Amino acid sequence: MRRVRLITVVFFLIFFFLLFFAMSANKPDGKAIFEKNCKSCHDVTGKGNPKVAKILKVDLVKLDLTKKETSEKKDSELIKTVSEGSSSGKMKGFKEKLSREEITTVVVHVRSLKK
Ligand code: HEC
Repeated sequence: MRRVRLITVVFFLIFFFLLFFAMSANKPDGKAIFEKNCKSCHDVTGKGNPKVAKILKVDLVKLDLTKKETSEKKDSELIKTVSEGSSSGKMKGFKEKLSREEITTVVVHVRSLKK
């Protein structure tokens, strides 16, 4: 009897482990998305890449996503810029490349970068 109970417990542990693993594997990872699609211009730190600022002829501060002006914007505004691109057209939209869920996740990551 005891043995049966032990087997049941072990079985459930394995089951939950696999379930947890499957769920975390499917979740978009904001940091990974950022490092793949955004880092080249905004830098890993989100403070902007000075070389790209020069090439795009924008102030470095425009590329800085950790600045107060950006962190004060609403999620919906940041999501819109990432999906549709910036008003100046210097940053193209990602709506064809990333899903809505991925864009939301990357915006959460952008928020986490602020000092
Ligand atoms: C080609 C370079 C480039 C890439 C790649 C890029 N951006 Fe941008 N991004 C810019 C520029 C330039 C601006 C400033 C917009 C302007 O001046 O029109 C900007 C602005 C933004 C803003 C708006 C900031 C504000 O204060 O309104 C957000 C948010 C943003 N980027 C997030 C991202 C995310 C997230 C990614 C990746 C999915 C990304 N960017 C990829 C160049 C880039």
